[in-house]
Amino acid sequence: MHTHFFHSRFLKETSENPPFWFMRQAGRYLPEYRKVRENFPDFLSFCYHAQAAAEVTLQPITRFDMDAAILFSDILVIPDFLGRRVSFVKNEGPQLEPITDEKEVEKLELSLVLERCEPVMKTIGLIQKELPKTKALIGFAGAPWTVACYMVEGKGSKIFEATRGMSYQRPELFSTLISTLTQATIVYLKAQIQAGVTCIKLFDSWAGLATTQQFEQWVINPTQKIVSDIKKDYPHIPIIGFAKNAGAMTMRYASQTGLDAIALDASTPLDWAAQQFSNTHVMQGNLDNILLASDQNETIVQTKKIMNAWKNYPYIFNLGHGILPHTPIDNVQALCDTLRGQ
Ligand code: CP3
Repeated sequence: MHTHFFHSRFLKETSENPPFWFMRQAGRYLPEYRKVRENFPDFLSFCYHAQAAAEVTLQPITRFDMDAAILFSDILVIPDFLGRRVSFVKNEGPQLEPITDEKEVEKLELSLVLERCEPVMKTIGLIQKELPKTKALIGFAGAPWTVACYMVEGKGSKIFEATRGMSYQRPELFSTLISTLTQATIVYLKAQIQAGVTCIKLFDSWAGLATTQQFEQWVINPTQKIVSDIKKDYPHIPIIGFAKNAGAMTMRYASQTGLDAIALDASTPLDWAAQQFSNTHVMQGNLDNILLASDQNETIVQTKKIMNAWKNYPYIFNLGHGILPHTPIDNVQALCDTLRGQ
């Protein structure tokens, strides 16, 4: 079977010039994205417009020729599929009706997820018609802990105090919420694979807020369940996990979940990561997104450092977090050139 460059990593192949893609590679730093985005006052309507979502998924590939496209969508579609209203307010980020009691968790519409995610499946079909067969198509979902953070808090936050408070004060309620999200995530990700994605990524952006015990219970356990359920039906689909800012817990996250690849944030030491993960996992990361937005020369220096530190390991180059809206396009181009050895 033909294996493209991106997937060759999962067969443990190495090379001087790594395959690469960037978190938030489709987004506001691209004028062609802003032009399509203008037509949709409502962000989720944009995500569910199969033609528009497919178009912006492909924009960064057309411009930069990365090795993987990532489906254009959002982690907050799962609350929406479950019947919790989600809106994106300009300059304020996502807004949801916060979950406060048992009744609201019981009412979550798990049985409707499959039909409600249909627009995303249509997007995947359209992308696969256009995407060169040499490229991977990454599907994704938010991991239950991170999605629960937004559903309980009702908005973005730096500390998610209401969510973490609920997990202590009403552990059974919180547990039911996490189980429902775990089930919804499995349904949604299996549908994405059926529709044509060739790799999966789980975003646990707020994993770093969990205590050790919460991490075991709400990050590792649900992730392990999602991975094992997907692997039962689709053993050949690689799964990348991103437990941002998880620090020392990243070791247990890697060893206890069955994930194939570990995405590492910009704070992770390169030599430590290689020691911990390179025998068992594909590594992905970890250039600082703020450096990319700030300084082209230093971006190149740091990128070469990562390439040199990890050249003997099967890794996928990426940032430690998503591309920021004010990132100069020239910097992204210079980064791509460096990665190709140009
Ligand atoms: O990476 C990609 O190019 C694929 C698409 C993608 C988006 N969001 C598009 C998006 C992916 C994979 C995500 C994941 C996501 N969404 C995460 C996990 C990764 C991370 O960043 O930690 C989280 C926490 C969210 C929730 C979310 N969605 C936030 C906090 C915001 C920002 C709100 C804002 O106004 O900036 C979004 C909106 C969003 N999702 C945008 C994009 C391109 C910007 C919206 C716009 O264009 O107006």
